Amino acid sequence: MALQDSENGRPLLEAENLTKRYEDGVLALDHVSFAVQPKQIYTMLGANGAGKTTAINLFLNFIEPTTGEARIDGIVTHKAPLAAKQKIAFVSENVMLYPNFTAMQNLDFFARLGGKTNYTKDDYRRVLLRVGLQEEAHNKRLKGFSKGMRQKCGIAIAILKDAPAILLDEPTSGLDPKAGFEFIHLLESLRDEGKAILMSTHDIFRAKEIADVVGIMKQGQLVMQRTRKELAGEKLEDLYMHYMAGVA
Ligand SMILES: Nc1ncnc2c1ncn2[C@@H]1O[C@H](COP(=O)(O)OP(=O)(O)OP(=O)(O)O)[C@@H](O)[C@H]1O
Ligand SMILES: [Mg+2]
Repeated sequence: MALQDSENGRPLLEAENLTKRYEDGVLALDHVSFAVQPKQIYTMLGANGAGKTTAINLFLNFIEPTTGEARIDGIVTHKAPLAAKQKIAFVSENVMLYPNFTAMQNLDFFARLGGKTNYTKDDYRRVLLRVGLQEEAHNKRLKGFSKGMRQKCGIAIAILKDAPAILLDEPTSGLDPKAGFEFIHLLESLRDEGKAILMSTHDIFRAKEIADVVGIMKQGQLVMQRTRKELAGEKLEDLYMHYMAGVA
């Protein structure tokens, strides 16, 4: 699939023939190519085991590609992992933070770890309110937090990193409907600020709602990719089932 030009002349996230065969022989990703521009949300759909997390982990350089490459702002992740990591913030399905630290302390710890030493308590307070964490919880320890509250802290940390790209692996799984709704709108506001956002999800309804581009993965291959415009008037559920059934 063609890699389009971005407003800046090039996409922020690019997978080019990205291929991963794990040590045990499983071909998890098979020559996958796609691109995400600034001000775009790209959602990856696909069955369990389709290769979504593998693709995200390759961008994060948690694992190395067998062939092909993942690039962040032109930087090849497995060739310059440190430079690439500075351009990207990650929110996992199960945000792992320090249970004995408060929300504020976690933000401060991870912001500093990311080299941001100028933030004030007021900045932390503001970002926690932006992600919807109620003020009473700001100085409470994470160990008493629900999954949704931890997820909010995770996205707050990602926002503080102020990276041009944000990757999210099933960020809304397990969130209640209201929290999921708020989370999606938060992602939209980050997109509108200029971020390039790549997320995996099993939620077809939300995927269609927020995605500028939807990709469907099947057994390591990108079997469908469509823009919001191309999806207008289509039922994404039907398309998804069509591709899963192997008709395409
Ligand atoms: N560390 C690993 N070692 C070996 N095989 C792996 C490893 N991680 C994933 N796999 C395999 O690679 C394939 C793709 O897995 P991946 O986790 O990327 O899928 P996914 O699309 O994220 O699935 P899910 O929707 O369940 O999260 C699967 O067959 C999986 O079993
Ligand atoms: Mg996964």
